[in-house]
Amino acid sequence: PYESFTALRTEFGPVSYNERGKFWEVFGYDDVLELASDYETFSSDGSPFAEYPEEMTKGQSVLTTDPPRHRQLRSLVSQAFTPRAIASMAPRIAEITNDLLDQVTRQGKMDVIADFSYPLPVIVIAEMLGVPSEDRARFKHWSDQMVVSEYEDLSRDNVEEYNKRVRTIMRQTLDELYDYFRQVLAERRLRPQHDLVSALLAAQIEGESLFEQGILAFCSLLLVAGNITTTNLIGNALLCFDEHPEVMEQLHARPELIPQAIEEVLRYRPPALLVGRYATRPVEIHGCKISTGESIIGWLASANFDPAQFPDPQRFDIGRAPNRHLGFGHGIHFCLGAPLARLETKIALSILLERFEHIRRERLQPIETIRSVFIMGPRHLPVTFQ
Ligand code: HEM
Repeated sequence: PYESFTALRTEFGPVSYNERGKFWEVFGYDDVLELASDYETFSSDGSPFAEYPEEMTKGQSVLTTDPPRHRQLRSLVSQAFTPRAIASMAPRIAEITNDLLDQVTRQGKMDVIADFSYPLPVIVIAEMLGVPSEDRARFKHWSDQMVVSEYEDLSRDNVEEYNKRVRTIMRQTLDELYDYFRQVLAERRLRPQHDLVSALLAAQIEGESLFEQGILAFCSLLLVAGNITTTNLIGNALLCFDEHPEVMEQLHARPELIPQAIEEVLRYRPPALLVGRYATRPVEIHGCKISTGESIIGWLASANFDPAQFPDPQRFDIGRAPNRHLGFGHGIHFCLGAPLARLETKIALSILLERFEHIRRERLQPIETIRSVFIMGPRHLPVTFQ
């Protein structure tokens, strides 16, 4: 990852305009930090400007709103993500992890993605939301549609055709997702359970309850944003450890180092590659004049390799301190699910390393990565172990 992001930074400079995509891109640590933090200048709400207002406004969630609405929504939904609530999930996460590993133990091999890192977060989030985890094939399909640009196959030269296709896929996927959750909501209204959907239905803030549309948007966001990212964090961690066998050994011997190793994976191979914002006023970055409404992409993955912030950035160093990576973003939109993602990944890796030895990537095929502009991770990761 280091080479490609350094190439981007050196080829395009700190800021550049992407003619084909019609957006600005920023690459340096300080600029990405500023883009993520200054919500007055850089809005997360594309609806007044975006090319697909209908899709984007269909349900506004924390991710696509600015204060004061963002503050209201975030304090509502954070109630389910308190450190205590997350910590209490540890035993169940360990149980699911062990169940998944039980199924592959005798074979001595698995595809880390299909057998382990995909099902784990999906089962956790499904249980949290209170929806049957058997529906996970559908969840996977929806997540893939939203973030994994399979339709990248279409020639990017034909931007109009490409945009039309993206638009259709987004609309279809959101329709399906919302239909699914509308049904769940209807059931919970009749019979509340101890789950997140029932809690969201009951939650009120400053006298205002979340509208159905708001709950639908949030549940869909969790399903999409919370799963594929965690899947890839686990997958990316194993890729990094495989490339650095000394780290794998060190973690076997001293599992208490796993949390800091996870932080270095979030820097070195961040599952989420970028954050997107819209300029709310004319603004100049490094002499580039950006107009109101123009969209700007901040490359988290590039910022994480900025040598001004990370000495010797190409080194995968689990002892890096401080490690102020931007893998979970920054500012008011800092990932709400970060404590959950960290906990799941810590438990998953700890149990995996405790139960299995000599975990090695099968080198029969080159690593096939997900094709997406948002997400980075291996599509398959076959490993053997003892
Ligand atoms: C926001 C990354 C896991 C829920 C974000 C943002 C990033 C991110 C970069 C900031 C977006 C922006 O500023 O525009 C990741 C990564 C994860 C992960 C790398 C796993 C390794 C999760 C999980 C959940 C979750 C497990 C929930 C179950 C959210 C939500 C937001 C968010 C709700 C929006 C917060 C807001 O706008 O206030 N995530 N995420 N994420 N993430 Fe995550």
